[in-house]
Amino acid sequence: MTLDRNTATAPVAASAAAVEDAFKNDPTATLEGVQGKDVTKAAKALLKDSAKRGGGSIQMQDVVKIYPGATKRALDDFNLDIKPGEMVVLLGGSGCGKSTALRSLAGLEDIQGGRIMVGGQDVTGVPVNKREMAMVFQAYSLFPHMTALENVEFGLEVRGVSKEERRKVAMEQLELVGLADQAKKYTQQMSGGQQQRVALARALAIKPRVLLLDEPLSALDAKVRVQLRDQIRRIQLSTGTTTVFVTHDQEEALAVADRIGVMNKGKIEQIAAPQDLYQRPATEYVATFIGLTNRLPGASNGEEAVVFGQRLPLISGSAKGDSVAVLVRPENLALSLPDQNDSKVGERARVEVIHFLGSLVRVDTVITSGEFQRWNKGEQLKVTVQLPANELPAGLSSGDDVIVTPRPVAALAC
Ligand SMILES: Nc1ncnc2c1ncn2[C@@H]1O[C@H](COP(=O)(O)OP(=O)(O)OP(=O)(O)O)[C@@H](O)[C@H]1O
Ligand SMILES: [Mg+2]
Repeated sequence: MTLDRNTATAPVAASAAAVEDAFKNDPTATLEGVQGKDVTKAAKALLKDSAKRGGGSIQMQDVVKIYPGATKRALDDFNLDIKPGEMVVLLGGSGCGKSTALRSLAGLEDIQGGRIMVGGQDVTGVPVNKREMAMVFQAYSLFPHMTALENVEFGLEVRGVSKEERRKVAMEQLELVGLADQAKKYTQQMSGGQQQRVALARALAIKPRVLLLDEPLSALDAKVRVQLRDQIRRIQLSTGTTTVFVTHDQEEALAVADRIGVMNKGKIEQIAAPQDLYQRPATEYVATFIGLTNRLPGASNGEEAVVFGQRLPLISGSAKGDSVAVLVRPENLALSLPDQNDSKVGERARVEVIHFLGSLVRVDTVITSGEFQRWNKGEQLKVTVQLPANELPAGLSSGDDVIVTPRPVAALAC
């Protein structure tokens, strides 16, 4: 958050507006980031109000969901605890229960066990329209015969807001999503990305305590996805709205989340800040779901492992044994040429494919030493190495011999 001193000590009224602007314009702004700094009373009051407006903490405690006729639980003692104003992303494979978790939270599904609290109140039996939540789905679900403005006004009209007031609020929301100039257009005349922004404006117009987004970007092309995802994050930070965002897309999750919950079989397997989840995955499922990882043969005492002759520290919870799989990220492997490698560690490999990714290079190799050729049920041991493009040995190409060596970075053994 970049709140400079001039802004922070400006006259009270101007300062409050400036703080609001800073939130609107700075995608990296956080409440904590500002609160710790030298801001005026009015700015603090505004922040407090913003936290209150977003307001809703969420607790889902031991929630069980069994669909009629189903034998398996779609949610199996599901637990989730979200702070007010936080953006949590639920990530996981198809059918793991992400939408069910969201729909149960919204009150769109009955649950068979557990309870759901919002802002400290038990809402388990509260009907969907009394939960003060808004949900945006993958399909835009707008009214095609209404203009963008009318669509956004709709939720307010249902809530009995006067015509004048709802027009004002709806225009503000369309401005927030960058569509003020399209207010009079029918939604069927708009692009997918524009329609999704109208859906978002409609959800935000009712000033929900909690915003629920179920794969809202999956129908859009890659470029619009990135733009809209960043816009959602900016708006979420500026309004302080507690948000749960469901996606399949790990890059999307890593880009917007305060915390990511990785789901598997109706449960959250691990929930943590993106960086922690990437660097210290608790399970193999989590490690393979976020980013690329190599499974390398090693020996472990639970605290350290030896992989290709190199000692590595292990993440707590790692398995022990003479023959374990150690999960090593591609960027935590070094690559050298055999005649330049005078250390005793590392394993000989052959380059299969070199992928140029701009500033990075990813090199797919296969281990050629006898000891590991039969590892992993007789399959070839393939190892992917990633390094900055300028560290790739000059002239390296497919079929060349190299030495692959793990770097001493904490890894998970399983
Ligand atoms: N209406 C329903 N009736 C019966 N079973 C359902 C229903 N909706 C979902 N399920 C089942 O519940 C489980 C969880 O489904 P859910 O839709 O929550 O998964 P998801 O993680 O959102 O998957 P996706 O990524 O494919 O959207 C799945 O096994 C699914 O088949
Ligand atoms: Mg789903």
